[in-house]
Amino acid sequence: MLTPVKEILQIADQANTAVIGFNCIDYNQIYAMVHAAEEVKKPVICMLYPEHTALKNMTSPEIFAEIVKNAAKEVSVPVGLHMDHCQDIDYINRALKAGFSCVMYDGSMLPFEENIANTKKVADTAHALGAAVEAELGHVGLAETVSDQDNCDLYTQPDIAAQFVERSSCDALAVAIGSAHGFYKQTPHLDIKRLTEINAATSIPLVLHGGTGIPDDQLDQAFTHGINKFNVGTEFFKLYLDLHREYYLDKRSDSGIFDFSKYAQDELMKYLTNKLQLSKF
Ligand code: 13P
Repeated sequence: MLTPVKEILQIADQANTAVIGFNCIDYNQIYAMVHAAEEVKKPVICMLYPEHTALKNMTSPEIFAEIVKNAAKEVSVPVGLHMDHCQDIDYINRALKAGFSCVMYDGSMLPFEENIANTKKVADTAHALGAAVEAELGHVGLAETVSDQDNCDLYTQPDIAAQFVERSSCDALAVAIGSAHGFYKQTPHLDIKRLTEINAATSIPLVLHGGTGIPDDQLDQAFTHGINKFNVGTEFFKLYLDLHREYYLDKRSDSGIFDFSKYAQDELMKYLTNKLQLSKF
């Protein structure tokens, strides 16, 4: 059931856990996500990452939104429609018009005041349309650099987080506490103390990016200390890529393309039903 992301985050907050948002690109991934969520009876958020997909002509916000809306009709669990990392305000407005109930304006690389001003501008538009905004303070970098995840200078500072939330009117905040995007070269160590302080200083749901490869025990800690949305992308895409390889190169190279979707959806669902157990709803 299509449900506003803000509502899903409230449900997660009340349950003292996190909903998982998966980056996804097409019908196979979206279908597998909503049906895996239905199977385990947990909410899920479908996230379009413009840099991965829309800007490479793989899909558009309008098409993505329609696929999610239609798939969500087939299940009873809450399904959210979210635009991940975007700095292009025109593109965000397009997504809002297409029905995304939450958009992430990522001003994390901008100076503090500029991040606030741009986030506020997006929030004003989104709120007028009944949608919500996720912002980022501090910067969640790339796992491949190793130094990004360990660089405390990039971490979110609890004292300014409160000011940022208040002035930007954002509805959810992505925090930098030791995670990074992509496959980790070194096991990350989330700064739970900092997270606890940010959570105490703010009253909105917090978001953890860079979900691929964070040990489960650290996630349990993070989810009970304020993280209500958890983003996963890289490992889900890697699995999907491997399924293509396996299907076309190794396994059934003679069977054409028509059976691939069912094969991929079933395999993706195995991963997803397992991963969704991290959400303690
Ligand atoms: P990973 O690709 O590292 O799983 O992170 C996903 C993410 O944070 C998307 O916003």
